[in-house]
Parts: sequence; C-alpha cells; structure tokens
Amino acid sequence: MREIEEYQGRILASEEEIRAMTAELGARITNDYKGKELLLIGVLKGGFIFMADLVRQIHLPVTVDFIAVSSYGSSTKTSGVVRLVKDVDVPLAGKHVIIVEDIIDTGLTLTHLKELFKTRNPLSVKICTAFDKPSRRKVDLKAEYTGITVPDEYVIGYGLDYDGVMRNLPQLYVLNENILKD
Ligand code: PRP
Repeated sequence: MREIEEYQGRILASEEEIRAMTAELGARITNDYKGKELLLIGVLKGGFIFMADLVRQIHLPVTVDFIAVSSYGSSTKTSGVVRLVKDVDVPLAGKHVIIVEDIIDTGLTLTHLKELFKTRNPLSVKICTAFDKPSRRKVDLKAEYTGITVPDEYVIGYGLDYDGVMRNLPQLYVLNENILKD
C-alpha cells in the first residue's frame, strides 16, 4: 500500500488557483443564465468535486443531476461512443443545460454526450470543464466555460484518478513518474 505522497508529482493547479477558477466560472454562469431555467449535469465519476464547488458559486435556482458513462470496450476511446450507465432523472425539454466535466482530453466523450442531449429538445447545451488538454483533441470541440488549461501529462487530483485513487487530492498534480515505472 503506497502513501498518498508517492503519487504526487509537481502541482499544476493549487487550491487557491482552483478556488479562483470556480469563482470566476460560477460568476460568468450566474450572469449568463439570469432568468433562465438551468440544469447542470455532472459526468461521474471525475466531475463530482468540480460540480460541488461550482454549484456553490452559481447564485441562481439551478437543478443538479448526474450521469455516469462507460466505454464499449477498447474501441470506445477512439470512436467516442459511450454508454450511459446512469441517465439523468429529469427531462431536458425547455431547459438550458450545462454539462459539467473535470477534464476534456480527446473531446470524444463530450461530443457524443452533447449530441445525445440535443435530441431531447433542451433550449441549449453548453459545456463547463475544470481542466482542458487541448493538445490531445481528436475532434473540434471547445467548452464554453473552461477553467485551467493543462499540458499533455497524466494528471491526478480534484476528481481525476490514477487506478481509481487520488480523486480526493484537493490540488491538481502530475502523476509521479515513479508510479508508472513500477
Ligand atoms: C474522463 C473525463 C471525461 C473523459 C474525457 O473520464 O472525466 O469524461 O475522460 O476524455 P475524452 O475527452 O478523451 O473523451 P474517465 O473515462 O477517466 O472516467 P472517470 O471520470 O470515471 O474517471
């Protein structure tokens, strides 16, 4: 069993930077969605921490729901076809939707989710992501609300895992290179 410190490489985003990022995005969303019916949809598992912070910075009567997605085997990462393991419990019709993610990598997951949600007649579908790795993009996808851009490295913490652990780190770290050597 490893110690938590053994997983941590250098810090990419401190707690202070993350706090400033969620406050700024929350303020922008509050301003953009005044008087509109807003539904935030978090993508499990990684999105749960960002959702919890973001929603407290949005000063509007929002609805919150979550989805869980899973890949159809190894081809999914390249095809972007995802299976909904858990769907939202509410209809999207007549609502403005923001999908809340921890990170965009190739962009395939969110491209698929956006298309899927659009078939349910919402008034709009936008994306809010805490972190973005634009250098990894395979499709032309941009989030309307982006927090911190990160380099193409294995990142952990603030919802992002390595082998299921480290989601609970309050800052964003590069995975320690020694972990991958073992
Ligand atoms: C991560 C992240 C996004 C997706 C982004 O989820 O939370 O959902 O990958 O990658 P993409 O842009 O290349 O599609 P992951 O599959 O690691 O699941 P998790 O959130 O449960 O850890």
